[in-house]
Amino acid sequence: MAERMISEVLAKPDVALEMTLRPSIFAEFTGQAKVKERLEITVAAAKQRSEAIDHVLLSGPPGLGKTTLANIIAKAMGANLKSTSGPTIEKAGDLAGLLTNLEEGDVLFIDEIHRLQKTIEEYLYPAMEDFKLDIIIDQGPNARSVRLNLPRFTLIGATTRSGLLTAPLLTRFPIRERLDYYQSDQLQHIVLRSARLLNVETEENGAREIARRSRGTPRIANNLLRRVRDYAQVRHQGRITHEVADRALAMLEIDENGLDEMDKRILEAIITKFGGGPVGLSSLAVAVGEEPDTLEEVYEPYLIMEGYLKRTSQGRVATELSYKKLGLAAAGTGQPRLL
Ligand SMILES: Nc1ncnc2c1ncn2[C@@H]1O[C@H](COP(=O)(O)OP(=O)(O)OP(=O)(O)O)[C@@H](O)[C@H]1O
Ligand SMILES: [Mg+2]
Repeated sequence: MAERMISEVLAKPDVALEMTLRPSIFAEFTGQAKVKERLEITVAAAKQRSEAIDHVLLSGPPGLGKTTLANIIAKAMGANLKSTSGPTIEKAGDLAGLLTNLEEGDVLFIDEIHRLQKTIEEYLYPAMEDFKLDIIIDQGPNARSVRLNLPRFTLIGATTRSGLLTAPLLTRFPIRERLDYYQSDQLQHIVLRSARLLNVETEENGAREIARRSRGTPRIANNLLRRVRDYAQVRHQGRITHEVADRALAMLEIDENGLDEMDKRILEAIITKFGGGPVGLSSLAVAVGEEPDTLEEVYEPYLIMEGYLKRTSQGRVATELSYKKLGLAAAGTGQPRLL
């Protein structure tokens, strides 16, 4: 269970660390070139017209920069950002409170927007579309609905599971952007930037090794950097070379290719329980004890990008690389045997 390190320990954001390393302007935000260009243009155009920008939905796996981008957008607009999240809005009144406290041009950031209750979500529709809020005041026979005008605000929603959003909510976001896993050279760039901010001497090769093992995810890259820094400080006068990075990551039992425990469980299930596939998403989800949407939106994209998994019309299929990774050989029958 060594690889638990990544999935359980490292996936949890360290708030203080994320604050210091989080880029605050577009120019410092590495990668996601197309998304960044489109958002920069939207922001620049809205500013020229002195308008609030349209509502934005940011989706993609954890740790890729959704919250970061929301902050960057608000800052670039010179707007206040009010932050909340789907599960913390428990009553319609909570949402009404947030909305009525907004000022012209403010950005309301709702993280994990897929976890918003449906009844509350419905209040958002007119708020997003017409900047109106219908609230019910009083109870019983005196209850009546009052329509409030809201200032022109921008809603930025973030979600790891865009597939769970209802169609009415989805379509009320004129701007929808999906973040993708980062390439190794982009992560290397992020690691070198973070190393500078943390004042850790880091060689290009050292940063590359950390990047390679970060599952395409800046948050993991930054967390690994911090752990490698500790190792370098105690054992190697603080300098992160390739060798130091490699040894530190080996000591931490971080997978050579950045796979975490769930990634491996998925590949192992396809190979050992379903003869290498094809297997349908829902059977696979049951086999690994995870929700189908999470598998599809959080885990599979990385495994597909790295060539471990293929999606075919019949279902998921493990590639040769998966067999190699798990030290299993595909026999003629498709039945695996241990090497
Ligand atoms: N493009 C980037 N360039 C540099 N650093 C980045 C980039 N994207 C993310 N980071 C770093 O990774 C950390 C995690 O990013 P962020 O919190 O924005 O992810 P998220 O997509 O909101 O994740 P979650 O779904 O878990 O909320 C940030 O604090 C920042 O330091
Ligand atoms: Mg976030």
